[in-house]
Amino acid sequence: MKRRFFLTQAAAGATVVTHAQTPAAPANTPLVITPPVVMAPRADGAEIVWGVSRHCRGWVEVKSGDETRRMGGTDFGFSTQGDKALRVRLEGLVAGTKSAYRTVTEAMGEPAGREESAWREFRTLDAAAAETRFAVWNDTHVNNATIAQLHAKTPAEVDFLLWNGDICNDWHKDETLVPTLLHPAGTDFTAQRPLAFVWGNHDLRGAFGYRLPDYVAAPDGRSYFAFRSGPVAVVCLNTGEDKADDHPSFKGRVACEPLRQEQAAWLREHVLETPELRDAPYRVVFCHIPLRWIDENEEGRTYDSFSARSRALWHDALVQWGAQVVISGHMHEHAWMDASKEFPYAQLVGGGPKPEAATFIEAHANGERLQLITRDLGGKVLHQNEFNPLAAI
Ligand SMILES: [Fe+2]
Repeated sequence: MKRRFFLTQAAAGATVVTHAQTPAAPANTPLVITPPVVMAPRADGAEIVWGVSRHCRGWVEVKSGDETRRMGGTDFGFSTQGDKALRVRLEGLVAGTKSAYRTVTEAMGEPAGREESAWREFRTLDAAAAETRFAVWNDTHVNNATIAQLHAKTPAEVDFLLWNGDICNDWHKDETLVPTLLHPAGTDFTAQRPLAFVWGNHDLRGAFGYRLPDYVAAPDGRSYFAFRSGPVAVVCLNTGEDKADDHPSFKGRVACEPLRQEQAAWLREHVLETPELRDAPYRVVFCHIPLRWIDENEEGRTYDSFSARSRALWHDALVQWGAQVVISGHMHEHAWMDASKEFPYAQLVGGGPKPEAATFIEAHANGERLQLITRDLGGKVLHQNEFNPLAAI
């Protein structure tokens, strides 16, 4: 297990995103086609991903105090290059501090071209902070009216934005990947809040879904990960598809069950063994498909309303950890389920893709309590939930 983690982490360090069969963009197309997206925030950095129209190289300049550092390049000795997107992992920053950064992009080959982004800022995560704020979106499904309103109404002053899966309506066309992920509804949505991306079942679908990992940054290069932001430990899990891997509609494209098993081991070996996560005052899980549902014996449903496959593997470790709430989407209707004796973790589910069904969640945690407020796009409070801090395990 450990060796596989090492190899995937090494692969994540590679910043080449390229597909040989990409047709050349017309010469008058802008070189850079999306804002820089700040993804996978960490205590010591983040990853910057931006869309390009043709084969480019690029780097990120980062200012900390009086020092400007140039970051980029791969573990294999190449400059950071790609013909769809460029990815640069920022490292060596100080927890809880703001850094200014800009991207520089240069065309490889003719016609020549060079673009520098504006200087922007982002702040690294800080486990020692007394408080944290974050926001949650889910199931946007390329509904641009919803995304534009979510972007406008979600507070900018948060430590991270968690996009809880189903950003697409299946990946039928290669060219939809970059704009859907990096430039949703034409917004500059990570200008002020870094993105943590949790995979939904639709994000695995379609002939081109297998290419999405080229553009999704994650702290360790995996679709499941954990981090600490102030008093909150956050565990992000990948519930995978909502039917069995061998369901004919998937055409042999998915292998979610081994990934669920791998995550079960990781919960035991990593989350329960890392003091910063294990002993955090608040313990929150994100996964796209809920682990519980209101009616778990509904007849006639042809897909999973809750991920029984995941729950069977993860439940005991989550209970041992002291998970207080699981935050999900998938059902396109918002819901709240209290913790119970059988399920000591509460379940919060965000709404659907249409503006009238969409929700966003604002979270604030300090030494007193963790508060989650779920609102519709009109600002109406649908759920308000509070959690007391836990003692160390
Ligand atoms: Fe969905």
